[in-house]
Amino acid sequence: MPLLAGSSSDSAITVQQLPPEPVIFGQTPAMRDVRQKLERVAGANLSVLISGESGTGKDIIARLLHLYSPWANGPFVKVNCPAIPGTLLESELFGYEKGAFTGAYNPKPGRVEMAHRGTLFLDEIAELDAVLQAKLLQLLQDGQFSRIGAQEDKKVEVRVVCATNRELHEEIEHGNFRPDLFYRIATMTIHLPPLRERAVDLPVISDYLLQYYNEKLNGRVMMVRPALMAKMQRYSWPGNIRQLENLIKRYVVMGTEDVILSELLQPNERDAVNSLMLDGPVSLKKLTRQTVRKLEARIILNALHANNWNRKKAARSLDISYRALLYKLKEVGIPQRRSSSASKPEEDDKAE
Ligand SMILES: Nc1ncnc2c1ncn2[C@@H]1O[C@H](COP(=O)(O)OP(=O)(O)OP(=O)(O)O)[C@@H](O)[C@H]1O
Ligand SMILES: [Mg+2]
Repeated sequence: MPLLAGSSSDSAITVQQLPPEPVIFGQTPAMRDVRQKLERVAGANLSVLISGESGTGKDIIARLLHLYSPWANGPFVKVNCPAIPGTLLESELFGYEKGAFTGAYNPKPGRVEMAHRGTLFLDEIAELDAVLQAKLLQLLQDGQFSRIGAQEDKKVEVRVVCATNRELHEEIEHGNFRPDLFYRIATMTIHLPPLRERAVDLPVISDYLLQYYNEKLNGRVMMVRPALMAKMQRYSWPGNIRQLENLIKRYVVMGTEDVILSELLQPNERDAVNSLMLDGPVSLKKLTRQTVRKLEARIILNALHANNWNRKKAARSLDISYRALLYKLKEVGIPQRRSSSASKPEEDDKAE
């Protein structure tokens, strides 16, 4: 049977498939704690909860946990809970017996069984409904579960690792998540910090990704210049490492640092919220000015791009004077020239 989207069963994960450890853990104290915790809990047959914003590397930590565990030679079975529609999730997880429902012509084992003597990784655990929460609790309490339509329970030995980017406490308060299940899965919690709190690690992660994608996509782009890296380190990265990875991929394909600059200038909700918190009382005027300026910078950058960095043509396309454009470039911090290691030399500002 083909694997459902979001589910995977890799019986042989190798370290080679993951970034090297100095890249995964970097230098920040928060990640040092993650590493220590990971090494300590890997060998204990306890369930582990990995929390953290989307794109912070929860998947990678779950795989490492498996690799460091005594069950590393067993299967690593991942289930991406939200990717499988509600009714299918129960049969995908726990399997079914012949005749359990229309169309169940043959019995089918679920992912729980497939993970026997290995790791079962449940991604986005907050998505489980009440029935599945109860079945998971039983599995964690006594290692037993039942296939849909089965008369008897089955027993299985699995290390369960769960991940969430939601506040499970809030889900409990809203009655969406069982507290007893929460205490079971969260005996050990590993929290991954957002990328914006790992500014010192940004160069190492970026270099790794750059090298990786240069190789994979036949690119030849250089490391980003230190001035741009400093900007990247001040950016808030709402999509965390996944956002960085996608950006580097685009940078490798396009070959120009403008791609990065343009992303950093994107106004985003978090920046607005952060500036609200930094500034104390809300200054709507100030916030609006900042947001408009960012938007303006983006529009200018697009116009420069579209006109191959010919500033006279860009000014004309924006219906402003050449001098006004130069002033704005300075004001919003866009370099006067195309900044790139791999792009063509920029054109002069010749009006056709
Ligand atoms: N330290 C790192 N170095 C390089 N790449 C990384 C690192 N951590 C994560 N990644 C990459 O970033 C992307 C996001 O990581 P991952 O899928 O583990 O995040 P996640 O927390 O599970 O996200 P989500 O909550 O959206 O599922 C992946 O492609 C992963 O390979
Ligand atoms: Mg994930």
